[in-house]
Amino acid sequence: MNNLNLNDRLVRYGELIPCKTAFIDTHTPGSNQKENFSIIGSGVSENPDQHVHINIPHGFNIGAAGQPPKCHNSLHSHRTAEVFFVLSGRWKFFWGRYGKAGDVILEKGDIFNIPTGIFRGFENIGKDYGMIMAILGGNDAGGGVIWAPEVLKEAENHGLILSEKGKIYDTKIGQQLPSNEKLMQPLTENELKKFPEYSSAEIVPNYVARYLDLYSLSQNNPATVIGENGKIFDKPGFEVEFITDQSLMNSKNMYVKDVVFMPVEGYWRLNSKNYNLILNPGDTFSLPKNNEYLLNPTKPGMATLYKVIPTDDKPGPTTRK
Ligand SMILES: [Fe+2]
Repeated sequence: MNNLNLNDRLVRYGELIPCKTAFIDTHTPGSNQKENFSIIGSGVSENPDQHVHINIPHGFNIGAAGQPPKCHNSLHSHRTAEVFFVLSGRWKFFWGRYGKAGDVILEKGDIFNIPTGIFRGFENIGKDYGMIMAILGGNDAGGGVIWAPEVLKEAENHGLILSEKGKIYDTKIGQQLPSNEKLMQPLTENELKKFPEYSSAEIVPNYVARYLDLYSLSQNNPATVIGENGKIFDKPGFEVEFITDQSLMNSKNMYVKDVVFMPVEGYWRLNSKNYNLILNPGDTFSLPKNNEYLLNPTKPGMATLYKVIPTDDKPGPTTRK
């Protein structure tokens, strides 16, 4: 049988359903045009009405953010891994208590494993609508994000409040905090002191991998991008591999857990017993465990793809060497 339960496993780029009210900063000018996508799992969305494309637990979440030029994402922190790769556009990522400790500019295919426990934000600094794909550690994605105090305050000025459980209420449309819920309390000055300020020199060499470097590194074998032996060292509960037209060996592969394929460039043919598919840039496909498969670009030329493989490591804070 071919393409078994495909709707549970394949999300086409063109069929992604955005949520424009996923986060507390959704009414704040400068951040109010963000589109958030929950591709595998609900991620860290604060809106329970957000559409989740694939509900099968993988041990990590896959999401995406789409933003027009000059739109930015407000400063927040994560308790588990947050990895971004750029699908399209030019993006500036910045971090630190006020977003000024360091920054890096990323373009198509570049990947960034942002260390846990620091405030981070990002802005589309390109000329066109851009999209970044995200991998978040753990089935619960760390139980939600931690906002910088100013973000909560600014959101409240625009009518949005956040419950302690991480759910948004929009007072402008008459919603109120239920009587049995409490408001999310901003971090105290003492708590904020625990968030380090890393410079770009500390972050960029250790947590960023560039697309064209990875292309070279994958010349014979797929490059391990994030993992114990990866270009970026970490054990976030998954490994990220980079596969290109240069690194294919025409041999079949199989995993004991569900693996996820995310093409960046080119068109990819995936064949296994139950699946015969063409995957395009921006698509996400989760192949069920124990499926032997063969993966090939459909035509000559540059073709690249990220693969996310679950591991037995416990999701949590970034592991340092
Ligand atoms: Fe985030």
